[in-house]
Amino acid sequence: MAEARGLTAIFSSLESDWRPGWLERARQWRDQLLMSPAFQRWAAAFPLTRWIAARREQQLFDLCAGFVYTQTLLACVRLRLFQALAEGPLTAGMVAARVDLSPAMAERLLLAATALQLIERRGLDRFGLGPLGAAMLGNPAVAAMVEHHSMLYADLQDPVALLRDGTGTGALHDYWAYARADQPSQLDADRVAEYSALMAASQTMVAEDVVAAWAFDRYKTILDVGGGEGVFLAAVGAVAPCTQLVLFDLPPVARRGGERLRKAGFQGRSKAVGGDFCVDPLPTGADLITLVRVLHDHDDDLVLGLLRAVRKAMPANGTLLIAEPMAGTSGSERIGDTYFGFYLLAMGSGRARTPAELTQLLELSGFTEVRLQPTRRPLRVRLLTARPAPFDE
Ligand SMILES: C[S@@+](CC[C@H](N)C(=O)[O-])C[C@H]1O[C@@H](n2cnc3c(N)ncnc32)[C@H](O)[C@@H]1O
Repeated sequence: MAEARGLTAIFSSLESDWRPGWLERARQWRDQLLMSPAFQRWAAAFPLTRWIAARREQQLFDLCAGFVYTQTLLACVRLRLFQALAEGPLTAGMVAARVDLSPAMAERLLLAATALQLIERRGLDRFGLGPLGAAMLGNPAVAAMVEHHSMLYADLQDPVALLRDGTGTGALHDYWAYARADQPSQLDADRVAEYSALMAASQTMVAEDVVAAWAFDRYKTILDVGGGEGVFLAAVGAVAPCTQLVLFDLPPVARRGGERLRKAGFQGRSKAVGGDFCVDPLPTGADLITLVRVLHDHDDDLVLGLLRAVRKAMPANGTLLIAEPMAGTSGSERIGDTYFGFYLLAMGSGRARTPAELTQLLELSGFTEVRLQPTRRPLRVRLLTARPAPFDE
């Protein structure tokens, strides 16, 4: 995207003028020290540095072993261990019988899951749900994501090859059929069913926070672009009883969304429109247009085109609301930069953007008054709102 490359050019010109100051020289000195095995031995023994050395070692170990932790969780999910323990603490033998493992293997899994605080020991020989296992049961979408991640796990087998290719061509790329499709509107119902169901399952967690953060009942009509199966619109409809709900998505997804909205009791005030937001005009007349977990799936050129289409469909007094996890959120660097960084690479398009990057794209596509709105759990979802700039600006 030529227009948005401006910042990159400015940053690279700043880099070439880079002169290390005292702080940078101190960091280089520290790095040299930490590289030395003799210093590491000394720091592990010296009483004042021992705890720092131990913490760093644990951090590095966790990074090396993270894939084992993930697979332990996958085993718990596949064996429905948390469901088994929800009825009350069980011994390894009882778990073995429930999940069809030998008692020795049940014990091995129980110990591994206990160490990860997924479950906890109760008494001498029983295991019960811990805070993490209980939280998993309260959020069935997390288990669905854990299952789904086996595809990402396979795609990340050779992360260097993925980085060199610059785009995924594996299981996730196939799964998100629209990511690189030449004509996404030609996708048939089978190609969208799985991802739509996963999005619907995980949308509840997002919708809760978005609905709590914004007053939707002041709008006459809300258009949710890339609205999936309508879970978000149904949550909005529940708090905005007089608002018309319009969903736009690829034809087979819109059909699923329309059906869900009808079943949820919104048939009199909802409409689902099928189309490709890259080529088809968006329905007009909505005073609020929402893009929920849509922009981060796409590269800058497509995002600019989509935002311009949204701008075109919007009345002068309209509002655009973007809801998605954003990069640069304090405490969520691992989610934005590591998780989404690699997930979207494997998928084949998109990236998590900072509010500043989204603001730049919004301004380039005819929006103004871009504001970041607070949400309860910014790690999960953040909100940006914008107003259309007058066309002659
Ligand atoms: C990540 S999902 C998000 C769905 C929903 N907003 C949510 O948060 O659960 C992205 C949605 O954009 C839709 N989508 C992708 N490309 C599209 C296109 N070219 N035209 C219309 N919809 C598209 C997908 O079908 C999918 O439903």
